[in-house]
Amino acid sequence: MPRSYPAVSGPLPGPRARAIVDRDRAFTSHAYLKEYPLAIARGEGVMVEDVDGNRFLDFMSGIAVSSTGYGHPRVVAAVQEAAAKFLHICGSDFYFEGMAALCERLARLAPGSTPKRVFLTNSGTEATEGAIKLARHATRRTAIVAFKGAFHGRTTGALALTSSKARQHAGFGPLLPDVHHVAYPNRYRAPAGMSDAALVAEAIDGIEGDLFTRHLDPKDVAAIFVEPVQGEGGYLFPPDGFLKALRDLCDRHGILLVFDEIQCGVGRTGKMWACEHEGVEPDIMLSAKGLGSGMPIGALIARESVDDWKGGAHGSTFGGNPVCCAAALATLDLVEGGLMANAARLGERLIAGARALAGRHEAIGDVRGRGLMVGMEFVKSRAGKEPDPAASRRVVDTAFQHGLLLLGCGKSVIRLAPPLVIDEVDIDRGLELLGAVLSDA
Ligand SMILES: Cc1ncc(COP(=O)(O)O)c(C=O)c1O
Repeated sequence: MPRSYPAVSGPLPGPRARAIVDRDRAFTSHAYLKEYPLAIARGEGVMVEDVDGNRFLDFMSGIAVSSTGYGHPRVVAAVQEAAAKFLHICGSDFYFEGMAALCERLARLAPGSTPKRVFLTNSGTEATEGAIKLARHATRRTAIVAFKGAFHGRTTGALALTSSKARQHAGFGPLLPDVHHVAYPNRYRAPAGMSDAALVAEAIDGIEGDLFTRHLDPKDVAAIFVEPVQGEGGYLFPPDGFLKALRDLCDRHGILLVFDEIQCGVGRTGKMWACEHEGVEPDIMLSAKGLGSGMPIGALIARESVDDWKGGAHGSTFGGNPVCCAAALATLDLVEGGLMANAARLGERLIAGARALAGRHEAIGDVRGRGLMVGMEFVKSRAGKEPDPAASRRVVDTAFQHGLLLLGCGKSVIRLAPPLVIDEVDIDRGLELLGAVLSDA
């Protein structure tokens, strides 16, 4: 049966969307960036309908959040059922089954065999913030190492670790002191012929041979924070062996290893956690975004031995809200029950299709991905590999006018990150549209 999307009539935004955009611009904070004038009325699966009745195919999941689509019946039912019982009690102070069940589930699902404990938050940033505190508390050390290009959040502590865009820092300093940024290995920009092993060795040498030798005593370092796949930094997949090498480095110096799986976790790469592709267990892991299918929930999952803070050391009024816990449990049921496998299977189709487009369009310098987390990098020339932000911007804007929702990241990368419920027909349709857009843009 033909699908009723994408279907766009007339230039966007339409009149109703325009009215919302104007009203929003008059009263919302200047801090909001707004990517393009999409004013959503409703969504279903991978389809987003705007207030003028235009229908879009979604390839960005509201920044990799709408893992189960825009209102999966099982998630909606779980939310409605939980909301009808009670909206709040404060999980930091009282008990309810949903919170115990979700913490148990995440502790069991977390990578590695050591026992885990879970603290629930309202966002990814808040999970990062909690991890900074926990790492310092557990080690009684202060310094944090993070990677250039990383995004870990926007509060003063988390922002100090973030190294994505200068405007995210401008005017806010001084931030948390004693945070040190090192290079994230970049396969695409490595010298031609450089092996993964050599790239890993170079990255580790940048920490141990340089930072720890010239600037910073590793005995002062509480934790290394790393995204197993760098998200906002440009959907960068590190070389094989990188996470393992970081694990060994941390073990040599008594440093905690923190994996930020906020964007790449919960099935997106075809396994529950991206770090499982490398079989490496962190000391602390962070989750959020896709965990609640759009309901605000995050988690700080720590090894039992690290979670040695005492009652009252940390807390949150809303973190682990009962309605959000129910959404997360339903999401995990769906992800474990087939969506993760779907992401692995359809991811191959998406990557193959994106690579075929790269074969026809010189502007695409690189396609990289795993599961339904795929980055397409735009360059001025294949030989020089200079990022071409104007080209990726044009593609995102033109795709919107054609009914395909995309989102950029890094300097000139487009992320292809549809909801995990997507099927073959929509993968092919999205690729076809993208092809048309590339010829147009
Ligand atoms: C890897 C990563 N960490 C942390 C965050 C911050 O999460 P939130 O926006 O929920 O605070 C993000 C958001 O994009 C992210 O991608």
